[in-house]
Amino acid sequence: MDHLLEIRNLSIELPQGRRKPPVKLVEGVDLTVRKKQNFGVVGESGCGKSITCSSIMGLLSFPLSLGQGSSIRFQQGDGREVEITGLSKAELRKLRGRDISMIFQEPMTALDPMYTIEEQICESLLFHASLSKAEMHDAALEMLRKVKIPRPEQILKDYPHHLSGGMLQRVMIAIALINNPRLLIADEPTTALDVTIQAQILDLMNELRESYDTSVIMITHDLGVIAETCEEVAVFYAGQVVEQSDVNTIFHAPAHPYTAGLLRSVLSLGGAQQELYTIQGTVPTAGNFSAGCRFADRCEHCMDICRNRAPALSEISPGHLCRCWLHADTPKEETA
Ligand SMILES: Nc1ncnc2c1ncn2[C@@H]1O[C@H](COP(=O)(O)OP(=O)(O)O)[C@@H](O)[C@H]1O
Ligand code: SF4
Ligand SMILES: [Mg+2]
Repeated sequence: MDHLLEIRNLSIELPQGRRKPPVKLVEGVDLTVRKKQNFGVVGESGCGKSITCSSIMGLLSFPLSLGQGSSIRFQQGDGREVEITGLSKAELRKLRGRDISMIFQEPMTALDPMYTIEEQICESLLFHASLSKAEMHDAALEMLRKVKIPRPEQILKDYPHHLSGGMLQRVMIAIALINNPRLLIADEPTTALDVTIQAQILDLMNELRESYDTSVIMITHDLGVIAETCEEVAVFYAGQVVEQSDVNTIFHAPAHPYTAGLLRSVLSLGGAQQELYTIQGTVPTAGNFSAGCRFADRCEHCMDICRNRAPALSEISPGHLCRCWLHADTPKEETA
């Protein structure tokens, strides 16, 4: 199978007490990530990107849970396929680090302030390999060189608070890649960094990808980051995928009004336009989604049908999916 990860009908629920049904924060998400593919997940804050990716790691935070019928299939290094939703905590721990690893927006929260960089890199190694102390030191040093950290010998002895945000993110990338995972999930890895450092980290990730067999899921609110790093992209809105295609199509022929709006706001940032374009309104919160299209209140193209009937995600051309009545030749309605 060429597919590394297959997510089918994923929903994530937030309980509302005994008397009310749970609210679905994420609903009906299907995603397929191929081997060595760089897959982008983009959307405004609150659309469900992070919790979707946490569920792949088996790390949904309390009190969230997966809805019935959710499936996340993953192909391990030995070629065996596993259903992640059915794994025990111990099996999930094994999968994390060895097969799937993650980097976050705030490296400081993922690192322990009490331990040196060397101790933290070696800890992830220790778990998986039986190396001597000297071998672990060499492996940590080599990894720091790969992520282009200057004075790596010194940095190994440092504590996290000695390092800048950009250097910490390099350390996190080193830790994430040291066991050569099959899948790396990067959740807004450059959002907290200033623009020059952002570009350096994205360049580094692109370079490293060439030498590792890792697929990457890049989560971001920034289409600019997607353009720099991804081949395929899924656009999230209010807990659903609203558009998905190759990156070129998304940038040159976006079909969903939400994607077009995101794109306009990026273009107006860098272009000659004086005013910054923003999509009017805000993302509705789960539990307050309209019966029709969830984007209806913010959409410039909203029609009567959009208010009452929810459009399904449909293939509008080969490999290009869109959830919008504007593109439905044979209108398909979302079935509950
Ligand atoms: N532990 C939690 N309890 C309740 N609601 C949550 C929890 N985690 C996330 N949410 C809600 O789920 C939605 C999606 O969150 P998230 O995946 O973090 O969005 P994104 O990463 O796209 O910004 C948000 O409305 C958020 O408030
Ligand atoms: S379905 Fe209607 S409201 Fe929703 S994005 Fe398309 S045109 Fe806009
Ligand atoms: Mg997030």
